[in-house]
Amino acid sequence: MGDIAECSWSSSALCCIGSITVLYYLLRWSWQCWHGFIVYVMSEIWQTDLKAYGQWAVVTGATSGIGRAYADELAKRGLDLVLISRSVKKLHFVAKDIESQFRRQTRVIQADFTEGHSIYSAMTQQLEGLEIGILVNNVGMNYTGILANFLDVPDPEQRITQVINCNILSVTQMSRLILPCMVKRGKGLIINISSEAASQPQPMLSIYSATKIFVTYFSRSLSAEYRSQGITVQCVAPFVVSTNMTHNVPVNPLVKSAASFARDALNTVGYTSYTSGCVTHALQNIALSIFFPDWLRLSSFCVQRMARLAHKMEPQIRERMANNKQD
Ligand SMILES: NC(=O)c1ccc[n+]([C@@H]2O[C@H](COP(=O)([O-])OP(=O)(O)OC[C@H]3O[C@@H](n4cnc5c(N)ncnc54)[C@H](OP(=O)(O)O)[C@@H]3O)[C@@H](O)[C@H]2O)c1
Repeated sequence: MGDIAECSWSSSALCCIGSITVLYYLLRWSWQCWHGFIVYVMSEIWQTDLKAYGQWAVVTGATSGIGRAYADELAKRGLDLVLISRSVKKLHFVAKDIESQFRRQTRVIQADFTEGHSIYSAMTQQLEGLEIGILVNNVGMNYTGILANFLDVPDPEQRITQVINCNILSVTQMSRLILPCMVKRGKGLIINISSEAASQPQPMLSIYSATKIFVTYFSRSLSAEYRSQGITVQCVAPFVVSTNMTHNVPVNPLVKSAASFARDALNTVGYTSYTSGCVTHALQNIALSIFFPDWLRLSSFCVQRMARLAHKMEPQIRERMANNKQD
């Protein structure tokens, strides 16, 4: 008799735990679907007026890829542009193009973010007096351009410093430089471009993925600190976008063009402080976390397979890199 009572008690407890678990996941998934709908569907219909943040937008790494696409889209939405990159020739070409296409004012600043802290005092002077409403911390670089182990690059000592300066120092120093004026005016938008590679550890992209998780954490903390002062900080973590960095892989349902990515991502401003940028990238992110979890991604088996694949693809990628340089 006692055994039967104990058995029915434990099966009721198990049933209860099971129901709570199912309910928890149902609520979680419903919330994720609703949130996704608001961020990626409603944002197509109602967009935040970006001009309301201020007259000027500053974009780092603005001469090609995602940065160029953000600059174009911001100009299209009525902002004047400060473009920052290394190549003066490319900067003037893009500035002219934006002025003639969108009838906006532009300024250019030549700077190499790999050089470290020395570049920021000159930049402060060049930005003085502008009403900067938006800062897009876009500039970023890969460790090698291909998948590779930490030590498998020529001159790792120099490369490590360059990547950290470009991917981490630029985001923090540019924010330090521009945020005070935004706080004074009680409004501003900072967009930091992280990467999907930051959502989980990425062997063979170790430095890149680690620098990008810095960007994500920095953005989310900054957002919490300054939200009450009227500042919006948004972290954007794309999957693959067809740019020089990705050797201009062809656009397909999974790979976005930079222009369409920037348009979709800018629509999400005001809807979320962390986004994959577009619905297809958000779905890929979910799929990857389900089908390619950490334990698998970090296993020696997977890392060896990736190394083999990278080795096989290396000649093809090097050829694409050479073609990009000629362009
Ligand atoms: N493409 C993707 O699939 C992808 C995915 C996730 C995240 N992201 C992130 O998105 C951002 C943009 O990537 P992208 O693919 O558009 O790159 P990209 O096509 O290589 O463009 C990089 C831009 O930054 C400038 N730049 C590069 N190094 C610089 C330096 N040291 N100092 C100043 N400017 C520099 C380049 O112009 P100059 O050559 O004239 O300097 C160019 O305008 C990066 O932060 C990247 O990590 C990209």
